Amino acid sequence: MRKLLTLAVLFSAIITIAYFSACNNNQSSSKTSDTTDSAKKIIERGEYLATRVAVCIDCHSKRDTSLFSMPVIAGTEGGGAGFAFGKAEAVPGEVTAPNITPYALKDWTDEEIIRTITGGVNRKGDTLFPIMPYPHYSKMTKEDVHAVVAYIRSLKPIEGTVPPRKFFIPASMFGPLPTANLADNKMPDPSDKVKYGEYMINVAACADCHTPIGPQGPDFSKVFAGGFVFDNPLMKVAVANITPDTATGIGAWTEEMFVNKFKSNASDEVVNRKVGRENSFMPWYMYGKMKDEDLKAIYAYLRTVKPISNKVEKYPK
Ligand code: HEC
Ligand code: HEC
Repeated sequence: MRKLLTLAVLFSAIITIAYFSACNNNQSSSKTSDTTDSAKKIIERGEYLATRVAVCIDCHSKRDTSLFSMPVIAGTEGGGAGFAFGKAEAVPGEVTAPNITPYALKDWTDEEIIRTITGGVNRKGDTLFPIMPYPHYSKMTKEDVHAVVAYIRSLKPIEGTVPPRKFFIPASMFGPLPTANLADNKMPDPSDKVKYGEYMINVAACADCHTPIGPQGPDFSKVFAGGFVFDNPLMKVAVANITPDTATGIGAWTEEMFVNKFKSNASDEVVNRKVGRENSFMPWYMYGKMKDEDLKAIYAYLRTVKPISNKVEKYPK
């Protein structure tokens, strides 16, 4: 029980501790599109976010767990995950990412979907466990959130539901968050690489995996220092240290090396390999298709975080 309470504390910490500045005072770089601006553009932005950055479709689809970084099985996009997150992912119970295609969400209003993805409470009033990264999504701009909603509404409806979730402690311990005023979230100008990178790395929720989890929960004083070990029937892999520490992090990596790592890890050649337990939980196949400028901005932001010495063995015995 003590362990579970620790987990509870850990995840309320995820919600309550804001380790990214919630918003900044930069001017908004773009107006909401005018009516003539095609809905297509909005859906494209939503698709980009949902399949390259926020990676909604990674969690909410069936995946080929035999291949590197577990790519989505074509035709299952948004139809619900094929496996549950559980103990191995520090979840106090079991939860499967549900169907988010129009089959499941057709009766939901946009407001209900937005409240769910940015506040962590669904249409039925259930509080979501924050492995669904709503604390991050609450910091997205209104335009980006609306684009994601437009995109998931455009998905092919897939019939089916996932098994009900089971928690050992009430999910209401983790949320929901107060309703975010998304209009307050401003998109930093991409020319301000570090600020813009901070926005993108938040939407991508990189910190959710790359923050070490100690006995007291996520250690936000060591954000991005890695070390958590995913140990489940699929793989045993430790999360990398991506702070700028030269000896144990990515301090010696150039921008080019960083971008190339993402590109090559998303290439067909690398992804389409049966890798056994030397796999990765990181959805490289999606993140690696981010725009170069977005990856470069993420790199620029990561250069500014505190270097932390933490040697991580990628495939511990
Ligand atoms: C790391 C995995 C992960 C990512 C990424 C993720 N989700 Fe989820 N999502 C989940 C899980 C797991 C749940 C169920 C949580 C619970 O019930 O406690 C969930 C729940 C939801 C729900 C509620 C569905 C229902 O029937 O209650 C919606 C809607 C949703 N996610 C949309 C999104 C969108 C849109 C994105 C991207 C912006 C996204 N999710 C990204 C894992 C994820
Ligand atoms: C679902 C968990 C998860 C998420 C989310 C995640 N990572 Fe990772 N990451 C890992 C794991 C596990 C590894 C170690 C195995 C590997 O190299 O794939 C890793 C490795 C890395 C590496 C390689 C470091 C090295 O020394 O080789 C980089 C760079 C990296 N992640 C950056 C990021 C960035 C940037 C994001 C967000 C865009 C991110 N990660 C999101 C789990 C995650």
